[in-house]
Amino acid sequence: MVEISAAAAPLTPDRNGRGVFPGGIGTDGSGARIQPYHKELVMTVSRKIRESIERSSWIRKMFEEGNERKARYGAENVFDFSLGNPNLEPPPAFRQVLIKVAQDALPGCHGYMPNAGFPETRQAVADYLNTFNPPRVTADDIVMTSGAGGALNVVLKAILNPGEEVIIPSPYFVEYNNYLENHQGVPRPVPTKADFSLDCDAISDTITEKTRAVLIDSPNNPTGKVYGETELKELAGVLTHHSRRLGEPIYLVSDEPYRKIVYDGVTVPGIFNVYPESFMVTSFSKDLSLAGERIGYAAVNPDMSDREEVRGGLVLCNRILGYVNAPAIMQRVIPHLLRESVDISLYRHKRDLLCEGLAASGYDFVKPQGAFYVFPRTPLPDDAEFVAALREENILTVPGSGFAGPGHMRIAYCVPDETIEKSLPGFERVMKRYRK
Ligand SMILES: Cc1ncc(COP(=O)(O)O)c(C=O)c1O
Repeated sequence: MVEISAAAAPLTPDRNGRGVFPGGIGTDGSGARIQPYHKELVMTVSRKIRESIERSSWIRKMFEEGNERKARYGAENVFDFSLGNPNLEPPPAFRQVLIKVAQDALPGCHGYMPNAGFPETRQAVADYLNTFNPPRVTADDIVMTSGAGGALNVVLKAILNPGEEVIIPSPYFVEYNNYLENHQGVPRPVPTKADFSLDCDAISDTITEKTRAVLIDSPNNPTGKVYGETELKELAGVLTHHSRRLGEPIYLVSDEPYRKIVYDGVTVPGIFNVYPESFMVTSFSKDLSLAGERIGYAAVNPDMSDREEVRGGLVLCNRILGYVNAPAIMQRVIPHLLRESVDISLYRHKRDLLCEGLAASGYDFVKPQGAFYVFPRTPLPDDAEFVAALREENILTVPGSGFAGPGHMRIAYCVPDETIEKSLPGFERVMKRYRK
């Protein structure tokens, strides 16, 4: 299909009289169909999606500008900290297991399976979860999914009625808004404290009869914060109190794809120990660098009330969202790698390199305890302006406003060490210009 812009020279009708007319469809002289581009007249994608595209267009713009800069200055001279795409390769064990699994072709191993996933895979995941939870998780509590994003959509679809609210401590992973909208849920961001820990009083004040769940992410994207046991227990106390008051459970959904990426001896408490009405969702995208393989899972707390109905809901949603089941070959690989990860000390080294450089240049930030992001304050209230100034130095970051955390920026340090080292003088020059 040929697409022409409204600004292009007008085409004359062909000999059959089928020409191009504003807002219509025609053919060019060769018979190829032409779609004139009159955006305001032609309804292509839905209004909602068009609005979403427009809302996210600055991200696209940034991405495009980044590509232009790479073409102009050479990729090695552009310091791209904009994406959370792990730069480390999967551990060598992954490839060995993959080859073995591919060679052990069992009959039907590429076919459909129970929508929740292979029973042996789910049992292996349950056994792993029982190493840091009350040891009662069973294979039935696990649904294998298409990444953590798939798991979140499955859980949200299963629990949300239209218009129900989900409280999200902010700043937070920007896709949550879209996932909620998929299932007619409404995000209710509640700012965290200055050190990005949970503000349980503010969460309590935000709960209404419309609140269906609280969605947390630890280690956190974009802040690198890990929620400790004490604050999680305080949150559990708040949710228990309001669930009793309202007569139905407020769920806690814990998104944990960065669980294994933690530093300095910090550990992530098992959420099932803390609050019975909880789900854990996660994936192998970050800790095994398998983001493209789309493998993850959702786990239901074995102590959840109506556990069986909820589990049935997740299995159905995995199917009817069109995932049907998680990728079969990855389900056979993952049981061998549940205790593996990429070399986390490499990410710790990157964090230290970056944090030491930023601190020396006067950046103000909370040192991340996990994940591979740091979320410094921008010295200007207008975070987009500061991010634009960094871009002039070929440093690509993301304004905090995109994570409901204005006045900050996100730096994703899952990049080569050299990128960090070579970017530091640019970070320093821009800070010098703006620091009062
Ligand atoms: C906090 C958080 N949750 C979920 C996801 C989605 O992960 P996946 O690729 O496993 O779907 C991401 C990806 O960046 C993330 O940062």
